[in-house]
Amino acid sequence: MKKIIFVLFALLIVLLVVWLVLRFNKGNNNNVVYDNGYVASTADEDVVIYDIDDLESRAQAIIPQGGFDYIRGGAETENTMKRNEMAFDMVDIYPRVLTGVNQPDTETSILGIDISLPVIVAPAAAHGLAHVSAEAGSARGAAASGTIMSVSTYASSTLAEVAQAGEGAPQWFQLYLSKDDVANQNLIRLAEDLGYKAIILTVDAPIGGNRIRDAKNNFKFPLPLPNVPKKSGETKGQGIGAIFAAAKNDFAPFDVMYVKSLTDLPVIVKGIQHPDDAEIAILAGADAIWVSNHGGRQLDGAPASFEVLGEIAERVNNRVPIIFDSGIRRGQHIFKAIAMGADVVAIGRPVIYGLALGGWRGVVSVFDYLKADLKRVMWLAGAYNIDDIKNIKLRKRCETKWCE
Ligand code: LAC
Repeated sequence: MKKIIFVLFALLIVLLVVWLVLRFNKGNNNNVVYDNGYVASTADEDVVIYDIDDLESRAQAIIPQGGFDYIRGGAETENTMKRNEMAFDMVDIYPRVLTGVNQPDTETSILGIDISLPVIVAPAAAHGLAHVSAEAGSARGAAASGTIMSVSTYASSTLAEVAQAGEGAPQWFQLYLSKDDVANQNLIRLAEDLGYKAIILTVDAPIGGNRIRDAKNNFKFPLPLPNVPKKSGETKGQGIGAIFAAAKNDFAPFDVMYVKSLTDLPVIVKGIQHPDDAEIAILAGADAIWVSNHGGRQLDGAPASFEVLGEIAERVNNRVPIIFDSGIRRGQHIFKAIAMGADVVAIGRPVIYGLALGGWRGVVSVFDYLKADLKRVMWLAGAYNIDDIKNIKLRKRCETKWCE
């Protein structure tokens, strides 16, 4: 009898130890399971980053497949998405020596806001898919990195939570126009009241792109998107196609003028891929142009965003600043985009990967990595500062007779 009691007691101790280890094991395996079974990370640590491709593989291992495919995926064949990343190889950076450059400076400014590097957070939906802190975590990371947080209408955190997490750091609000004017006015007023510094009007998603990964996974948001006007209906349990369909489904110059009429904040028109659209947006009152093909998630068969940047910058001709996204993963990409005419660039997926692997600290790690990588490129290319990059001419691949 004594023996049995002893064995049972020992078993109890072992079970208790196992439970304690599982309960307090901090790290990437410490996840939160939502009511519908979706598992989100609670990681809270610095992340070692070799490059963003490697970071992506590690994030894939901890984000549930439906969520990861939604974040990573592009439209249809994903060729445009892949080209976004490959297009930077069309041009090269001349190494410059004998320039005397030492410790180049990555600081710059955009629309009157000083930032520590020319990289900001792009608006992207549902950071809650990657981490329980969601956009509030990303905002804290952006603030600690000295850069701008852009928050989507389709965020998992409320605009108020994001503002609070940023503790006064600069934030921009990305507006997906609703069909309901009152809802649009209320959202813009709320963003103004909370201290957001610009409105990003996204005009490239009258409908969703053909996202085959999402269709195969039958992917639906496992969490609500709390900033979407109530009248547009339930968001939890909906796919992105249905959410786009419930929003405004056509855009014209009047929409830019309309948003301008609702706010004194700068209005940035996002999703420009043609010089004529840049011209139209400026004539309609845009305070900045955001060159983007939505990370290759909308029109498959479109050029890489970087491929059209030069012609758009030429047309814009410094009348308004240019923000660029789609495909940025390295310091050389940032350098090339600025040399091609962008004032700053934005990153979406890399922020979400950093968030998944380390929470707000992981977001800081992503910006630290990009800052160090850009600095190295500037040093080796002979650029003292960001204005220097704007005056550097890139070299087209294969322009000599030897490499045709
Ligand atoms: C997307 C939107 C919401 O899924 O940005 O691409």
